[in-house]
Parts: sequence; structure tokens; C-alpha cells
Amino acid sequence: MNLILLGPPGAGKGTQAKKIAAEFKLPHISTGDIFREAAGSGSELGVQLQGYMSAGKLVPDELVIKIVKERLLRPDCGNGFLLDGFPRTLIQAKSLDEELAKENRKINKVISLTVDEEEVVKRLSSRRVCLACGFAYNLNSNMPKKPDVCDACGGKVIQRADDNEDTIRKRLKVYQDQTRPLIKYYTDRQVISETDGMKSPGDVFNNISAVLKK
Ligand code: AP5
Repeated sequence: MNLILLGPPGAGKGTQAKKIAAEFKLPHISTGDIFREAAGSGSELGVQLQGYMSAGKLVPDELVIKIVKERLLRPDCGNGFLLDGFPRTLIQAKSLDEELAKENRKINKVISLTVDEEEVVKRLSSRRVCLACGFAYNLNSNMPKKPDVCDACGGKVIQRADDNEDTIRKRLKVYQDQTRPLIKYYTDRQVISETDGMKSPGDVFNNISAVLKK
């Protein structure tokens, strides 16, 4: 099963992707995680990537496409994959379809998570993430037991540089302008299912699972 999780920043893509990947045994490919890891290395490329992310801008298509193309060629993607945060532009979506078509593959399902803008601002302003395993906590609903220490792996829990209100609103605008058109793209291809991301994480997961098991 070749899957895409689509939705605005803070819709819960990362939270759901971890659960779906475990339940359906799919490699979870998050372009945001890949870029944050590269940024953390301090390389020249990493510094450039951090610049785009901190400004709430998209990383240029050519670079994103190259990285995802290489990742999809790894053997663990042979029986399917779960993309989280990619594609984000029509150019990325078309390029993905072209690459998959070369191997007689295609996207089987796109799960589109919907959530209100003000809820996004609330969720992301209070999000904290583990630097080591990427688990997302929330100061309002799901805090780590020890302050700043990940319950799961003991890693350091931090606030992402792009999780401030100003940048969150910029990211939402970028989503509306550049990513939202993908809903029509995948609706035309009859592979999209919309899921209400305002429900609790458990309910959202149950709804997605039901769609994927059909
Ligand atoms: P990326 O890391 O992909 O960020 P994003 O799309 O903005 O999404 P987020 O990670 O902010 O949110 P999420 O939907 O995963 O929500 P989460 O589950 O954490 O990308 C970062 C940057 O990298 C981009 O801005 C761009 O610069 C670059 N980039 C990445 N991909 C790119 C691409 N393809 N092209 C170009 N550039 C790219 O949940 C959020 C919070 O809400 C958490 O605290 C969580 O605990 C809580 N929460 C989750 N679900 C619920 C729920 N149901 N109810 C209540 N709270 C919930």
C-alpha cells in the first residue's frame, strides 16, 4: 500500500503516521524529519534547510524531489510506504506519480486530515518534540512526565524553531496557496479520503484504519 498523509501544519500528520506505520507495517517517510535531521548536522545544506524551515517557507521542489526519490528506492519501500509532508506542491505530486509509474506503481490512498486554523495555532504553539525520536508532546494535553525529557526514549524535548505564532501563520498561508490544490489533484484521481482531524488522536486513528482496511 502506497499512502500519503495530507493536511495543514498541526493537523496531526506525524502523530497519525507513527500509529499507521506501526499498525500497517509501512516505512514512515517524513520530509520534515529528514530536513530537521540534516539541519541538526550543521552541514552547509543543513544550514540552508534550517533557513527555509525557520522562515516557514517550503524547501525548493528540485531538492525535495531528489531526496524523496532516493528514499523510495530503498528496499524497505518495496512493499509500500507512508509519506508524511510530501508532496506539498503540484510539481512534487506530478513528479511522484511519474517516478512510481516507471515501476508500474501508483498512489493507492491519500488521507486528507482537516482541522480549523485556530486549532492549528493552539496545537503548534504548545507542541514540544523529542529531538531523538521525534515524538510530539503537547503542553495542553500530553506533557512528558519529567519536564523536557522524552518518556519513550529519554531524549531531550524541545520547541521547534518554526512553532511560534508568526511562523505558524506563515506556514498556514503556504499550505493554502501551494498544498491545498493537491486535494483537487487527488480527488480527480479518486484516491482521496477526508478525515476529521479535530477528533481525539485515538478516534482519528480508528477512522483512518477503517478506511485503510476497506
Ligand atoms: P513538517 O515537519 O512536515 O511540518 P508540518 O507539515 O508543518 O507539520 P507539523 O509537523 O507541524 O504538524 P503535524 O501535522 O505532523 O502535527 P503533529 O502530529 O506533530 O515540515 C516542516 C518544514 O519542512 C516545512 O515548513 C518546510 O519548510 C519543510 N518541508 C517539509 N516537507 C516539505 C516538502 N514536501 N516540500 C517543501 N518543504 C518541505 O501534531 C501537532 C500537535 O498537535 C502535537 O503537539 C500533537 O501532540 C497535537 N495533536 C496531534 N493530533 C491531535 C489531535 N487529534 N487532537 C489534539 N491534539 C493533537
